[in-house]
Amino acid sequence: MHKGNNDMSGFATPVLPGPTPDGFVYLVDPETGERLARLPVLRGTIGPDVIDVRTLHAQSGMFSYDPGYMATASCESTITYVDGDEGELLYRGYPIEQLAEQSNFLEVCYLILTGELPEREAFEKFSHDVTHHTMLHEQVSFLLRGFRRDAHPMALMVGVVGALSAFYAESSDVASEGQRMISAYRLLAKMPTIAAMAYKWSIGQPFMYPKNKLGYAENLLHMMFAVPCEDYTVNPVLARAMDLILILHADHEQNASTSTVRLTGSSGANPFASVASGIASLWGPAHGGANEAVLRMLEEIGTFDRIPEFLDRAKDRGDTIRLMGFGHRVYKNYDPRAKIMRDACHQVLDELDVRDDPHLRIALELEKIALDDPYFVSRNLYPNVDFYSGIILKAMGIPRHLFTAVFAVARTVGWVAQWNEMHVDVSQRIGRPRQIYTGSQKRSYVAMDAR
Ligand code: CMC
Repeated sequence: MHKGNNDMSGFATPVLPGPTPDGFVYLVDPETGERLARLPVLRGTIGPDVIDVRTLHAQSGMFSYDPGYMATASCESTITYVDGDEGELLYRGYPIEQLAEQSNFLEVCYLILTGELPEREAFEKFSHDVTHHTMLHEQVSFLLRGFRRDAHPMALMVGVVGALSAFYAESSDVASEGQRMISAYRLLAKMPTIAAMAYKWSIGQPFMYPKNKLGYAENLLHMMFAVPCEDYTVNPVLARAMDLILILHADHEQNASTSTVRLTGSSGANPFASVASGIASLWGPAHGGANEAVLRMLEEIGTFDRIPEFLDRAKDRGDTIRLMGFGHRVYKNYDPRAKIMRDACHQVLDELDVRDDPHLRIALELEKIALDDPYFVSRNLYPNVDFYSGIILKAMGIPRHLFTAVFAVARTVGWVAQWNEMHVDVSQRIGRPRQIYTGSQKRSYVAMDAR
């Protein structure tokens, strides 16, 4: 049964027929007809069937190989459903379009965390509880002051969120449901405060304390843009646009940062350390860093006449340049979040009367050309959510190095909900992938003088 050799061609030989009526697939050696493994087929509420390969190695001596998790489900989850072919996104079963139009970020947080939409009283209590955890321990501001002024805000976010575990040592009791919940509230509540402080630090302005009478998105804008010596009123169109950005980024099933949070948490690490690792993963330009990369790209293009040259480079396989804010691992149809964000983007540009901004004009022209270009059309490379969120955030006056921090604020609820779900899932174990070893055969140590 156990072949146990390193012949890579053996990986291509066995065949997996479609699921059988008895709910199993069989891994069969086509030459000998020998059955190498009998694997159960699991079925979710919606979405493709999943072959359960947990016993594959025990039965056949082989591992599955899937770098980048192109075809691997890493867990069972009830939180978010993404259908990349249809361009559909559901939080706890509710279409993103309905939530974006009729709900608000805090209600979406309640939904993502608990699984249900709240009744009024429950919502008021939840909003009150989150709002009343927004302040940071004063000592955190000294920690922040230790960073260089030109430090990237994501560096501060990774550091400060990880450091919160030092302020809430009891959060390490990850088996306690109560501790997990209070940590979720703390993270949700304090993330905007941290992001805004990171911004204030970078521009040399005093930190603004949170104002509990403001809504979540309003409070974030207030802490970023208000100064102690002036009255500041948040523009309601911008507050609504920010709320929308937060809703649309709240969760996206097992993406790189969420998988990182789960993997870190699978060892029993505390929630602050787990979320800090998620922030680190989000930072990369292929993930949450894309909204910042979009703006960097627009600045690099600079003028209208350089758009064709840039597009040629993005299409050239020999060139590392990509059209940032285009394409998605899962969506091979229009990203439903991008559709919503596109409308909001035009509203914000009109409200702020900034359509003449050169970078924004380049963005709108790029969008128009790429949507017609056979290279992008044939590869299903549509603008993704970060293309438009980058443009909106820029129009709002948020500097580009802060964009991914805003994404982190939004995604925190997804991270903590997924982290919590992992802790109540009895099938979860420490994440420990295997590998195809392609290094040297076993050999003997040679003393330095004899080499
Ligand atoms: N510009 C130019 N070509 C692209 C792009 C792009 N943005 N994205 C993919 N391609 C090409 C790629 O070169 C390949 O072409 P070919 O078949 O000729 O070799 C084909 O499209 C498939 O690309 P892939 O790299 O196999 O796709 P992937 O699923 O591994 O990558 C992605 C997905 C999002 C990393 C990628 O599309 C990308 O780098 N996009 C730009 C960065 C970006 O906007 N990221 C934000 C994603 S949405 C927010 C989030 O989830 O965090």
